Amino acid sequence: MDTWEKLKADCRGCQACSLGRTRKHLVFADGNPEAEVMLIGEGPGEQEDLQGLPFVGPAGKLLDQMLQMIDLDRSRVYIANIVKCRPPGNRDPLNIEQEACRPWLDRQIALADPKIIVCLGRIAAMALIKEDFRITREHGQWFDREGRRIMAIYHPSALLRDPSRRPETFMDLRALRKEIRAVCAHTY
Ligand code: URA
Repeated sequence: MDTWEKLKADCRGCQACSLGRTRKHLVFADGNPEAEVMLIGEGPGEQEDLQGLPFVGPAGKLLDQMLQMIDLDRSRVYIANIVKCRPPGNRDPLNIEQEACRPWLDRQIALADPKIIVCLGRIAAMALIKEDFRITREHGQWFDREGRRIMAIYHPSALLRDPSRRPETFMDLRALRKEIRAVCAHTY
């Protein structure tokens, strides 16, 4: 049987792809592993690499504000990334890196067993919802994958670059709150 201790120990020294050679810290996760909602981003940036925690840089500050808008915080969600080590210069993680890292994420999802998964941005949506996912057209739409409800919203970094997407994202967050009320057992 898998356990968090075993998973963390297995993951700690990972060198399954070349990102392992340039990372300062492997970024495993943050938040509450018992939460019914799991947020999945793309991969660590500079601050995350330095601190060993996901979403602690500028995009993370915005993510915290987005959660607050629907009365959530990190104690009520579990946060991980598609890749656990920083791609140099914050480039998109390559397919080969995403594939090498995927077993860790799959074990995190299996152990956390969330009712709802929210993909933060295009990269996570393409990995977890469908290969040809179009974030501009399909953000905020619900999909069913392996018994879980899953949707994608714009990545907070994209919202920092293009604030005109924020009203749509607020609607998506409201849809998330509605879905949490419908499918999660914890009072909300
Ligand atoms: N962007 C991500 O996708 N993940 C992080 O952890 C930080 C920034």
